[in-house]
Amino acid sequence: MKIIIINGPNLNLLGRRENNIYGDETFNDFFERLQKKYANQEVSYFQSNIEGELIDKIQEVGYKFDGIILNAAAYTHTSVGIADAVKAITTPVVEVHISNTFSREDFRHKSYISPNAKGVIVGFGLQSYELALQSFLKKSQE
Ligand code: DQA
Repeated sequence: MKIIIINGPNLNLLGRRENNIYGDETFNDFFERLQKKYANQEVSYFQSNIEGELIDKIQEVGYKFDGIILNAAAYTHTSVGIADAVKAITTPVVEVHISNTFSREDFRHKSYISPNAKGVIVGFGLQSYELALQSFLKKSQE
């Protein structure tokens, strides 16, 4: 299957950023492990701190790929533009968060993306991404 992980702002700092919340591993190290483990799948990765670039990427892959694993980070809670892009495309989107956003500040409880996501995986650390990937692979076996 052709799956892309799209990460939003500040997720390039994983491993250095608020380690008590987001853990010690860099995303690149995690992604390398993931790619090795699922070597028979086509899993790619894109990160941007810029809202418009995230929208461009969602549009670019959104009619071609089998699945998008999206952590829009802070834009989850603010971006109507990203929500509209998710709504516009035909590729299913699984929304993920590393931390349990519901156990954090109130402003993190609202997601503009969730209503149009296929599903939401929240709070399992970097494993959230793997669980999202497995949800797509399981679907393809049904
Ligand atoms: C996050 C949660 C967001 O509230 C926050 O702005 C992030 C990361 C997560 O993966 O836990 O940057 O999406």
